[in-house]
Amino acid sequence: MNDSNIVRNKFQEPMLKQVGGKRWARDFIYEFWKKNGSSVLVEPFAGGIASILACSPQKAYAFDTNIHLVNFYNKVRTGLIIDMPTNNNSEYYYMARDRFNHLIREGKDDSEAAAKLYYYLNKTCYNGLMRFNRKGFYNTPFGSYKNLQYKEHFLNEQDAIQNIEFLSCDFRDIPVEIMPEDTTWVIDPPYYGTSFDYGLCKFTWEDQLESIEWAAKLKGPVLYTNTADPEIIKNLKRLGFKTQIVLKKHTVGASSESRKEFKEVFAWKNAELPDMYPEGSDWKKTMKKRSALAKKIK
Ligand SMILES: C[S@@+](CC[C@H](N)C(=O)[O-])C[C@H]1O[C@@H](n2cnc3c(N)ncnc32)[C@H](O)[C@@H]1O
Repeated sequence: MNDSNIVRNKFQEPMLKQVGGKRWARDFIYEFWKKNGSSVLVEPFAGGIASILACSPQKAYAFDTNIHLVNFYNKVRTGLIIDMPTNNNSEYYYMARDRFNHLIREGKDDSEAAAKLYYYLNKTCYNGLMRFNRKGFYNTPFGSYKNLQYKEHFLNEQDAIQNIEFLSCDFRDIPVEIMPEDTTWVIDPPYYGTSFDYGLCKFTWEDQLESIEWAAKLKGPVLYTNTADPEIIKNLKRLGFKTQIVLKKHTVGASSESRKEFKEVFAWKNAELPDMYPEGSDWKKTMKKRSALAKKIK
């Protein structure tokens, strides 16, 4: 694909708030996919599916262990309407949280009602942190946002995700053997060494290591991101990845310190970098410049 100088001026926005989401890096991810990509794109840690939405491939698979997230997307795919009240106050929020947990308790977590509540809770909760306790019940506190906009329907999104299969599954159980060999993979596991809690899972050091080892065996182009921790980088390099550190300002963090600046590692294998993102250059700067340029394009 040669049109790499064309600036993409419109990306489909993620529907959900997502801790660690890659919306901020979508210009790079889109260019990476354009340079290397095939018709199939997979996000094994789907979250906000920022990468799939940025690239809009012919076919995509979004896997995530969070069954509630997968239920939400599957309901949007068939036409979800938020016809419940969406009040941004703590009393109503905690009632909705109880109702959602009641549905979980009753085994109705794959219902339309659960999908609507998931959307409301994700928008209204503290920092978009979808946190669940050991028993699988949702326990994130109210977010106290001044202004929140809730959607009533997802017509554009419904259209945009028709070609995506959403499945609840651990990354190790993804049936890699049935995917085309040249499938492109954007792998964005929970950040190593942060206190971010994605709920329904504890992503241990062993899981981190396994995610790198698993990613290294894939045949198609792979983009892997994580905290720029020396051990993570050492293992990525050991398994044949090339790496680059990208500085990112974080909006979610346990302390004001961790909110400031965060180093992420971007690693790639079986792939080349897009021309405008050469190794060693300031990718964040390029992303900013390109998004400013894209805004000017009508
Ligand atoms: C950093 S987020 C992904 C963000 C996403 N790339 C985006 O741009 O919005 C990590 C996701 O991995 C999911 N997850 C955690 N452990 C997992 C596992 N073992 N297998 C698959 N998904 C997992 C979490 O539920 C969470 O949605």
